[in-house]
Amino acid sequence: MSEHLVLVADDAGIRRITVNRPDKLNALNAATLDALQTAFDAAAADAAVRVVVLTGAGPKAFVAGADIAEMADLRPTEGRDFSLRGQKLMRTIETLPKPVIAMVNGFALGGGLELAMGCHLRIAADSAKVGQPEINLGLIPGFGGSQRLLRLAGRSATLELCLLGAPVTAERALQLGIVTRVVPAADLEAETLKIAAQLAASAPLALRATLDVVNIGGECGIEEGLQYESAQFGLMFATDDMREGTRAFVERRKPAFAGR
Ligand code: COA
Repeated sequence: MSEHLVLVADDAGIRRITVNRPDKLNALNAATLDALQTAFDAAAADAAVRVVVLTGAGPKAFVAGADIAEMADLRPTEGRDFSLRGQKLMRTIETLPKPVIAMVNGFALGGGLELAMGCHLRIAADSAKVGQPEINLGLIPGFGGSQRLLRLAGRSATLELCLLGAPVTAERALQLGIVTRVVPAADLEAETLKIAAQLAASAPLALRATLDVVNIGGECGIEEGLQYESAQFGLMFATDDMREGTRAFVERRKPAFAGR
C-alpha cells in the first residue's frame, strides 16, 4: 500500500519522489509520512542518486498539508508523536547529503510548505499558493514550519503567515524569500529538471560540503561556522573531484565528477 502513496523514479542520477494522493491534494497522513521517510532514507543511501526532485501528483497541489481528517481525533500525546514524525522527515530531507529540490506545482499549505522548506531549493509554478493556515484549524505548524519559516523569511513574514493563515502567491513568496524561483506553470517541470541535471553533473562531495556548512553555519556562531568552513574547504583538496575540476578548467574542457 505505502509504495503507492509515494512514487519513486530514476533518470540519469535524478531521483524523482512524488507524493501520490491526488484525490486528497497529497495531504500527509501518517502512512504517507512513513513512505516519504523510507524514500528519502533510500535516496540518501544510494550513491547513484545525485539529486532528488520532490513533487506532488495531480494538477492542483504539491501538498495541501497534514491530513486534517486523520488529525481531527488525535489526543495530545498522539498529536505530539505526529509532529515528531513529520519533524523527523523534514530534518532527514534538510540534512540529506545531496541536494533536494521541491518542485512546487500547486498548493503548498501547512505541512506542504513545511515539506518544501525542508528542501534545499524550491522552484514554484507561478500558479502555486503557499501558506501556514493551521491557525484556521485552531492549530499551529507542527512539522518545523514556525522555525524554518522564521529562518528563511524572518519574524515579520512568519508572524504574518502563521497568525493570519492566508496563503500567498508564488510571486509574494519569492519576495519574502520563501521560494527560490518562480516559473510559468507550463515550464515548471523543464526548468526544475534543468536545475536538477546541473546538480547531477556537479561535484557530489562539494555539494555535500556546501549543504553541511550551510546547515551547521545556520545554527552556530560566526567563529565556529568559519572554522567549519575552513575544515571542509581543506577536505576538498583530498578529493579526486577537486583535482578534476581545477584540471578541466585549465584544459578548457567540461569536468567529469565521480564523487571521490
Ligand atoms: N487534509 C485532508 N484532506 C484534504 C486536505 C488536508 N490538508 N486538503 C485537501 N483535502 C481533501 C479534501 O477534503 C477533498 O477531499 P474529498 O474530495 O474527499 O472531500 C479533496 O482533498 C479536495 O480538496 P477540496 O477542498 O475539495 O479542494 P478545493 O480546490 O476546493 O480547495 C484547498 C483546495 C487547498 C484550498 C483546500 O483543500 C484546503 O483548504 N485544504 C486544507 C489546507 C490546510 O488547512 N492545510 C493545513 C493543514 S494542517
